[in-house]
Amino acid sequence: VADLKTDLISLEEIGMNRVRVLLDLAARLKTRDFGRPLTGKSAALVFLNPSLRTRTSFEVAMARLGGHAVVLSPGSDAWKLEAEEGVVMDGGAAEHVKEAAGVLASMCDLIGVRAFPEMQSFAEDRQEKIHRAFARHSPVPVVNMESALSHPLQALADLLTLREKLGTLAGRKLLVTFAYHPKPLPIAVPRSALLAAAAAGMDVTLARPAGFELPEEDLEGVTVIDDPEEGYSGAHAVYAKSWASPAFYGRFEEEAPLREAARDWRVTVERMQRTAPDAPFLHCLPVRRNVVVDDAVLDGPRSAVIPQAENRLWTTMAVVLDLLGMA
Ligand code: CP
Repeated sequence: VADLKTDLISLEEIGMNRVRVLLDLAARLKTRDFGRPLTGKSAALVFLNPSLRTRTSFEVAMARLGGHAVVLSPGSDAWKLEAEEGVVMDGGAAEHVKEAAGVLASMCDLIGVRAFPEMQSFAEDRQEKIHRAFARHSPVPVVNMESALSHPLQALADLLTLREKLGTLAGRKLLVTFAYHPKPLPIAVPRSALLAAAAAGMDVTLARPAGFELPEEDLEGVTVIDDPEEGYSGAHAVYAKSWASPAFYGRFEEEAPLREAARDWRVTVERMQRTAPDAPFLHCLPVRRNVVVDDAVLDGPRSAVIPQAENRLWTTMAVVLDLLGMA
């Protein structure tokens, strides 16, 4: 029933109580066979951008639970989509989300959507028009597989990994650090990670160079520093990511000198030695070796990136079961 469905567009929208339920369910799924409750159920996974982890984890999650996933890439193997209302569709898009959502929902029980920001205007990107249009026009649950602002499936896996590594989250110190990357990247992952960790009661420090500020409204309760070393001291976990400053959207040639000056923002063994003993290193992947993080960290015993990625499977299984009322 359309007005009873729940979408997962961001963890902030579903709230921390439900996030904890999902994490508990994901943890149970890791230790217990839940059988095939999704037999006869299908998910349509709409990818406007590439993916390794999100696609694999979602497809395998559906299969493990007895269901099926259909992967569509609009503009490649499916029609290019339009999300604006009332538009004259005489451009590149051949299909409106209204029809796409309606058709997919007539055959599938859930729709996943990945649409990265255009990164020309933050005001435009933050409206997340593709996701909101799917949510509005789909009578079945819509899951955000990464949008301009949010990557809730990644943030769930991040929290599960932190919980597994640290035991408890409340009061533990998490460093979310900017890392150099040659290209301006979306803010969805670092924003979602720090919001989720702060909501879980972690003591979150965001370290970023001047010019790479994240939206002020997302930083309540977060300590912000602009030093590449300081945040490591005493951290119980380190989460590295690169991103583009929303302030420079559409003007990345102006951001370039600031980005170039931040080449030293790399996770090294020396920096990791400043943390609390055995503090894990997290990254959502894909990661550029020896640009974002040194081989010695990524290949070392404190790297959590593979179990973190594996947790995408268990948390996605939990999300699907929950949204389809089968938890
Ligand atoms: N972390 C993540 O979402 O990976 P993919 O882009 O490969 O899906």
